[in-house]
Amino acid sequence: MRSASETETAQDLRFLLGAGSPLGGARPKSAVSLGDDRLALAKFPKPDDTRDIGAGEILALTLGGQAGIRVAEHRFVALGTQSVAVITRFDRGGGDRIPFISAATLLGLPQGDTCAYTLLADGVRQFGNDVPGDLRELWRRLLFSLLASNYDDHLRNHGFLMHEPERWSLSPAYDLNPVPEIDRARMSKTAITEDQAEPTIAGALAAAERFGLKAAESKKILREVFVAVSGWRKTGRQLRLKASTLDAYASAFEHPLMDEARRLLGR
Ligand SMILES: Nc1ncnc2c1ncn2[C@@H]1O[C@H](COP(=O)(O)OP(=O)(O)OP(=O)(O)O)[C@@H](O)[C@H]1O
Ligand SMILES: [Mg+2]
Repeated sequence: MRSASETETAQDLRFLLGAGSPLGGARPKSAVSLGDDRLALAKFPKPDDTRDIGAGEILALTLGGQAGIRVAEHRFVALGTQSVAVITRFDRGGGDRIPFISAATLLGLPQGDTCAYTLLADGVRQFGNDVPGDLRELWRRLLFSLLASNYDDHLRNHGFLMHEPERWSLSPAYDLNPVPEIDRARMSKTAITEDQAEPTIAGALAAAERFGLKAAESKKILREVFVAVSGWRKTGRQLRLKASTLDAYASAFEHPLMDEARRLLGR
């Protein structure tokens, strides 16, 4: 096994291979100490994975950062033919625990309930700390999820941290996973609005008002997200992901919604 960034120590890698505590969610994970006072989650491959999920997550987090989203700190470690995604925990600050709740909890919705980004925006308005900033961020994340095919954006994949007493701030984005065409039908997701039929970029632009955005501002954000997602292959190569891994994700980044965004941006 070799660390892709060549920065992890043998001790880190032993941690990764050891049995860890379950942290919830669908993928096998382990708690990892990064050697300083930071903790991380290591997300491992599953035997039935048909593509390198860890590499896809690291690619999506990297592209998300390039698209201007506040993403969880991340790095990947090559493990045979697959990758381990190592995500720094954002709910710890200097040894203390920062209170964290999922969007399902913020909205008081039972697990498994479907939702819409516009309802999440209403939750931010009601309980948020930086309401305009988090609404803008949420809209950017919505566009990114559409353009990078992050179709597993259910209510437990959005979270909030309490930095100020009794006010909630969007946590860094986590669990971003590009889903290629072949798997899309099986995935659930958060709709753009309560009454949305088919997700479209035009529909997202029409809903931007609910996020406090004027037309020019929403177009600017769309352009930034589009440019970042368009560069997915170059970014993947810079991350030194294998060509076959990138090919497996191509349809997650090149699809009709990207064509629609390109048209709307006049590119
Ligand atoms: N960087 C982080 N810091 C603190 N908590 C986190 C972090 N990343 C994820 N979590 C928490 O751990 C849970 C599981 O992580 P994550 O969603 O990445 O895993 P998953 O197994 O892929 O989940 P899913 O069931 O959505 O497929 C999240 O729902 C969230 O509550
Ligand atoms: Mg999750």
